[in-house]
Amino acid sequence: MHTRIAIALLIAIFCICNGHKPVVLLHGIMTGNESLGLIKGRILEKHPGTVIYNLDRFAGWSSLDNLWFQVNELGKDVMDICKRHPEGVHLLGYSQGALISRVILQTFPQHNVINFISLSGPQAGQYGTSFLHIIFPGLALKGAFELFYSHVGQHTSVGNYWNDPFHQELYFSYSQFLPFVNNEIITNKSETFRVGLLKLNKMVLIGGPDDNVITPWQSSQFGYFGDNDSIVEMANRDIYTKDLIGLKSLDKKKKLDIITVPGINHFMWHLNISIVDNYILKYLN
Ligand SMILES: *[C@@H]1O[C@H](CO)[C@@H](O)[C@H](O)[C@H]1NC(C)=O
Ligand SMILES: *[C@@H]1O[C@H](CO)[C@@H](O)[C@H](O)[C@H]1NC(C)=O
Ligand SMILES: *[C@@H]1O[C@H](CO)[C@@H](O)[C@H](O)[C@H]1NC(C)=O
Ligand SMILES: *[C@@H]1O[C@H](CO)[C@@H](O)[C@H](O)[C@H]1NC(C)=O
Repeated sequence: MHTRIAIALLIAIFCICNGHKPVVLLHGIMTGNESLGLIKGRILEKHPGTVIYNLDRFAGWSSLDNLWFQVNELGKDVMDICKRHPEGVHLLGYSQGALISRVILQTFPQHNVINFISLSGPQAGQYGTSFLHIIFPGLALKGAFELFYSHVGQHTSVGNYWNDPFHQELYFSYSQFLPFVNNEIITNKSETFRVGLLKLNKMVLIGGPDDNVITPWQSSQFGYFGDNDSIVEMANRDIYTKDLIGLKSLDKKKKLDIITVPGINHFMWHLNISIVDNYILKYLN
């Protein structure tokens, strides 16, 4: 009898150790979970039996909803998944979904996400209209701040991470989202925002110079425009040097992986099998 229990236990432990952890996927702006079908299919092909939650809420137009609303709603769903899987899960977000995913980790520090993969997400903000023109065809880059840095503009997701290097004072006074989650404005939530990221085993930031949508592309790795339109890499920005959200601490512990892949357009990151094979699968163990 005891041997049987022991064998059952051994099998259970074996399965836990060998099974791949569940994976949560979050789509980008103006699409839904079908857009991540290729990534999901490839994970199942290479890691058969993986439980995958390909979140389908806030698809299409509702992806433009205010980001705090999306973070809170999707965050509850992700926490339900975490509770169902005490062994831990991995989280991958694409584009705007990568920013939402990161902020879910900060807002719900009780999460048990192990590895977080940000696939070309505007983590330090966005100042370029290439994808905006799908939604607002006539919008001029230089005038966009007037729309986004207003109470109405802050009702849209894009307004929440619009980071105009020429209107930083307006960014800091109007943006209700990005300067807070990046701890550029310190509040009584800032410490929690840090704790939620420091829990990770790995934060993986994937982006590249031929993205053509995330502008500057370095935003996918927490770099951004400096005062005069020059690019400041993550390692030279306050968010890293002052360890505002834990990036430097993660880096010192070798838990921050920065991956730059040239030749990939923004709308190809999630449709290119070799991206999944070369840069994503190894984190989904
Ligand atoms: C999208 O989500 C729905 C509802 O959860 C699910 O039935 C469907 O399989 C998902 N699509 C993909 C491609 O994962
Ligand atoms: C945090 O600050 C907000 C707004 O300033 C306030 O409403 C809230 O009560 C504070 N929470 C705590 C735990 O101090
Ligand atoms: C940016 O402006 C500062 C101060 O005006 C100047 O010292 C610096 O050289 C400029 N950087 C670039 C890349 O133009
Ligand atoms: C797919 O990704 C690889 C790099 O992993 C790149 O060399 C190739 O050009 C990409 N293909 C497309 C169609 O973007």
